[in-house]
Amino acid sequence: MYRKLFNKIKNGEELRREDILSILTMDGWKDLETLYQFVQKEKWESVGNKVYLRGLIELSNICTQNCYYCGIRKGTKIDRFSISEENLIEYANKVVSSCIPSIVIQSGERRDEEFVSFIEYCLKKIKNIFPDLMVTLSLGEQTEEVYQRWAGAGADRYLLRIETSNRALFKKIHPREVSFDNRLKCLKVLRKTRYQVGTGVMIGLPGQTVDDLVSDILMFKELDIDMIGMGPYIPHVNTPLGKNIIAKFDEAQKIALVEKSLKMIAACRLYLKDVNIASTTALNTLSNDGFIKGIKAGANVIMPNFTDLKYRKSYNLYQGKAGVTEYNLGELEKKLLEIGEKIAWGEAGSSLHFKNRN
Ligand code: 5AD
Repeated sequence: MYRKLFNKIKNGEELRREDILSILTMDGWKDLETLYQFVQKEKWESVGNKVYLRGLIELSNICTQNCYYCGIRKGTKIDRFSISEENLIEYANKVVSSCIPSIVIQSGERRDEEFVSFIEYCLKKIKNIFPDLMVTLSLGEQTEEVYQRWAGAGADRYLLRIETSNRALFKKIHPREVSFDNRLKCLKVLRKTRYQVGTGVMIGLPGQTVDDLVSDILMFKELDIDMIGMGPYIPHVNTPLGKNIIAKFDEAQKIALVEKSLKMIAACRLYLKDVNIASTTALNTLSNDGFIKGIKAGANVIMPNFTDLKYRKSYNLYQGKAGVTEYNLGELEKKLLEIGEKIAWGEAGSSLHFKNRN
């Protein structure tokens, strides 16, 4: 049934909408096995059998936005924290000492000058102490001027998820203040600044169709994105979107959602080829060895969390978020070796797509 699709992949022909749809709806185990063999071949040829690590630092869960799905939204009552500059340097040092030359600084969304200049100051300081450390920011929607200030202070990469390419669905999961057009505008601004740009979506949002997911992947290409981070949507009980569906979020649903997320990674690898794709925490939360499964499905980046445990517990984007215990990087490395992948210790691992376009 999939002979035509597999031939296309084998011959390196450009995939079309209907091919991506076939990948996302494939379900026979034999076909899936063949698909994942092609994915591995593509991954090893385009980005190699390497996995790049990024040390994730959750800077603060203070957020001015009220997104309906998110556990750290402004309207949810949780303990709020902000780590100090000293803590940030300490965690960055931990990352560097682990032979990981790349950090991701993530935080709830704030646009006040105090926050903007704090980040600017920290970036300069970090780059001064660790000149070779690659810094990714994941700090939400900002003005062009702010993006430029942070780039000027040393930020190298920026992650900003579009969450869904379906404008109507985007509207359903966000309050009015969060606009799809502005999100797109931010991505375009980032793209013309010196950043390597990442985006992504949540998979399995209520009301999301498989056609939406195909459109998501087509949009990544249209936006000429360098990095992709996407994962399953996991209902959070204290959110407007999650509270009514969490009871129905059972084992069978989780398994199906993990499968769908893996197929999304596979389709992105086959279609976009030279981009970096993360095997995300959300995937690792829903499935044992989710990180490894994501890599097997075509991802090449893992972001272990380096935030202090006492803060990490309050950075609850969704229920049961994985990584509340220390990671065992040795264990991770062993499991990766078993699937023929090696951790690229000490390598910055910039997106090949970014290198190719510059
Ligand atoms: N389930 C999965 N991912 C979530 N995010 C926020 N809330 C959830 C959730 N309930 C993701 C969003 C956001 C990123 C920081 O975390 O995609 O961009």
